[in-house]
Amino acid sequence: MKKILILNGPNLNMLGLREPHIYGDQSLQDVEDLCYETAHSHNMKIDFRQSNHEGELVDWIQEARGVQDAVVINAAAYTHTSVAIHDALKLLDVPIIEVHLSNPKEREEFRHHSYIESVAKSVFAGHGAKGYQMAIDRLAELLG
Ligand code: DQA
Repeated sequence: MKKILILNGPNLNMLGLREPHIYGDQSLQDVEDLCYETAHSHNMKIDFRQSNHEGELVDWIQEARGVQDAVVINAAAYTHTSVAIHDALKLLDVPIIEVHLSNPKEREEFRHHSYIESVAKSVFAGHGAKGYQMAIDRLAELLG
């Protein structure tokens, strides 16, 4: 069974409460449930995590080496700032998919640059929670 690590960055634990006009009213638990169902339908396993701490995300990415078959990452605000997460992702030789609930490219200029996209195989942004589902579907294709 293929294993996917799904990482969520800072403030995503507040989904549902946080700017629902931008991020929707689903909680992170709802997103996890959707990911679980989608992965289950492809006979894949997920490890779904969230952290507000950059170093913890880096640790989890390093630990994924040789263990996980793919990574889905919504690095949240660290998308636009973190060379450390970019470097950690480069340690992996499995497919990486970048996800955002909103479309950062259509928002404030400081959200336009992503340190993740150059290491990602695909980006799904602006589809709300469905973007996570699209990422898992894409990985099911990629991992065969
Ligand atoms: C986000 C977009 C980021 O710009 C923002 O900092 C987030 C969430 C999204 O899912 O739309 O925290 O990654």
